Order: sequence, then structure tokens, then C-alpha cells
Amino acid sequence: MSTKVKVGIIGVGTIGSVHADAYAKVGDAELVALCDILPDRLGEKGKRHGVARRYENYHDLLASADIEAVSICVPNRLHAPIAIDALQAGKHVLLEKPMALNQDQGRAICAARDAAGRVLQMGMVRRQSPDAERIKKLVDEGRLGDIYQIRIRLIRRRGIPGMGGWFTTKAESGGGGLIDIGVHFFDLAMWTTGLWNPTRVSAKVYAKFGSPMEDYHYVNMWAGPPNYAGTFDVDDYAAGLVRFGNQATMSFEVAWAANAQDEQMLEILGTKGGLKLGGDMVLLTEVDDLLADVKLNFAKEGGGFPQQLAKFVAAVQGKAPPPATGEQGVIAMRLIDAIYASSAADAEVEV
Ligand SMILES: NC(=O)c1ccc[n+]([C@@H]2O[C@H](COP(=O)([O-])OP(=O)(O)OC[C@H]3O[C@@H](n4cnc5c(N)ncnc54)[C@H](O)[C@@H]3O)[C@@H](O)[C@H]2O)c1
Repeated sequence: MSTKVKVGIIGVGTIGSVHADAYAKVGDAELVALCDILPDRLGEKGKRHGVARRYENYHDLLASADIEAVSICVPNRLHAPIAIDALQAGKHVLLEKPMALNQDQGRAICAARDAAGRVLQMGMVRRQSPDAERIKKLVDEGRLGDIYQIRIRLIRRRGIPGMGGWFTTKAESGGGGLIDIGVHFFDLAMWTTGLWNPTRVSAKVYAKFGSPMEDYHYVNMWAGPPNYAGTFDVDDYAAGLVRFGNQATMSFEVAWAANAQDEQMLEILGTKGGLKLGGDMVLLTEVDDLLADVKLNFAKEGGGFPQQLAKFVAAVQGKAPPPATGEQGVIAMRLIDAIYASSAADAEVEV
């Protein structure tokens, strides 16, 4: 008898397919069902991924007793209701980022997990990369000393996804670039450094490229083409400063679109060393009385979605706790809520 964990995917758009491809690489997982409200897409994805059981209503998938676990890959507005329904149906849940529209929904998901006694893992895939893991190891070994400043620059020159669709409609997405891509690097910053106590934030968010949508010039578009009859009421640029008590600060810039070069940078400054994620990783430190630039050579292949889903399946099997927890998801949502609140209030606010 197979001991593989039977999984289903709810929402087989762009990232749902990425999950399907990744589950195929996880030896202990068997992808048995897909769900999407769009019948044509469901049929096409079912064929592409070789999955015969297909549901247009996620409640029908959740009613299948043999399915132990689900990946939830739907628009952000549906994260909380579908995750809660899945947990209440006794399924283990891998929930795509961002956790939900706001921290209150995040807490409700954690409460459903506790009541159900099932695994809840956040889809923080950026942690699952060799460079991120290497930074965390160096921090944990004390190679950076006391960490007092983090810098994030996450810049897309033109990278607004699905313009006019759910991504750019606040009621569907919870926000723009800040919640969509910022959440990855806020999580990465807090996970690598262990600074899970953001206390205050001063920030501003802008929307400079979505009005009118026809004036937005781009090279390619995730989840495109644009729907000019749709809505754009979210941020495309955000900047701010987060305090972690008296211990540390984090400055950030997150842009879906800006007249600036593409960049993905996380820099950590500590008393013994500093380093940047991205490209060649160099530890800026001292050896005896000399300043030293230590180039870190390590295998950069692997990780990503297959590793994330392998860890999820291992957590379902009880082999290890989930690597990205609901509590951490709520902290990221608290921070994002506070950034939007600070911008609206034109003032520093508590996280
Ligand atoms: N981890 C990452 O790096 C990453 C990357 C991209 C997207 N995402 C996240 O994944 C989620 C989906 O993003 P996407 O780019 O795949 O969007 P998408 O629009 O391509 O796909 C979403 C799918 O959900 C389906 N859907 C909508 N309502 C549904 C319902 N009630 N039941 C079942 N299916 C339903 C849609 O028809 C669509 O096929 C978002 O939360 C997004 O933030 C994560």
C-alpha cells in the first residue's frame, strides 16, 4: 500500500502549476486532485499535470476523504476562507503568500489550525534557497555579531502583475507590491536574523503607474494581459523604516514599478560582519587587524518549491515541524498592516 501523502491543489493558475510541477519531484507526495473555478483552465491543467480528478468547487475536493493535504494557490482574498474551510475539513494546509488580506484574518487561520490539530505551513519559498539558508547559518553561528541594521531594496522597473485584475484590486489582494513581493523579503529578513519583534514603523506607499492604466509601458506581465476595464487601487512603490525595539532597524524600498534598475537586495549589518543576498555573496569582516572580504563559495542549485513542498509533506508525516509557521505569517501581516496604516496616517505607528 502506498504511504505517499495524497495532496490536492486549490487554484491552478500560474503558481498552482508551479506547485504541481514541484509535487512531482517530491517522492512522498502524490498529487491526486486539482480544483479551479475556470473549467477550461482546469481541463488544460489537468491534462498538463496528468491529474484526472478535477473539481470546480473546492468544497467537493475538501470532502474527499483520501486527500490529506492541500496547497492553496488562489487570489489573496480567498486565502483565509479557503484555508479555514480546509483545516475544518481536517486537511493539512500549505498556504501561498501573503498569508491573508490582514493580520486579523491571519489570526483566524491560526485559530482554525489549533482547533483542527493539523499542519499549517506558509508559502515562504524565498527562504528555501541555498543563499538564504547560508545567511541564516552564518547569523546563527554569530559570524555577523550583533545585527543592528537591515536594508531591503526589492525593485522591479516594470513588474506590475495582472494589471486591472485581482492583483491590482485592493479588495481582492490586500494591496500592491508591498504585500505581494514585500512579504517575501520581510519574512526573509526576520527569519535570517531572528528579529521577529517589529515594534514601530514609519512608511509611505505610492501609486504612480496605474492611472490611467493605458499609460503603463512594460516588457512583459505576470498574469497578464492587462484588463483596462478593471481596477487599479493599490500601491506600486513603498519605502519606510521599521524599528525592532532599541535593538535594530530595517529600511526598505519595495517597488512593482519605478524608474530605477531592477534589484533584489537584502543587506544585513552586524558588528562582526555584513553581507548581501544576491549575486556573489561576500562577507565583509575583519581578520586580525585587517579588513577582509570573504567570498563565500557554495552550491547555489536546488531549493525552491520542491524543497518547500518536501518539507510540507514531511511535516504532514510528522517528521518535522513546518518550517514557516502561521505565527510568523501573522507577524509579517502585522508589519504590512502597520506600513499601510503609517502611510495613511502620515506618521510613525506601532506595529
Ligand atoms: N510564492 C511565490 O513566489 C508566488 C508567486 C506568484 C503568486 N503567488 C501567490 O499565489 C496565489 C495565486 O497567484 P497566481 O499568480 O497563481 O494567480 P492566478 O490568478 O494565476 O491563479 C489563481 C487561480 O485561482 C483560481 N480561483 C479563483 N477563485 C477560486 C476558487 N474559489 N476556487 C478555486 N480556484 C479559484 C483562479 O481561477 C485562478 O486560476 C496568490 O496568493 C499569489 O500571491 C506566490
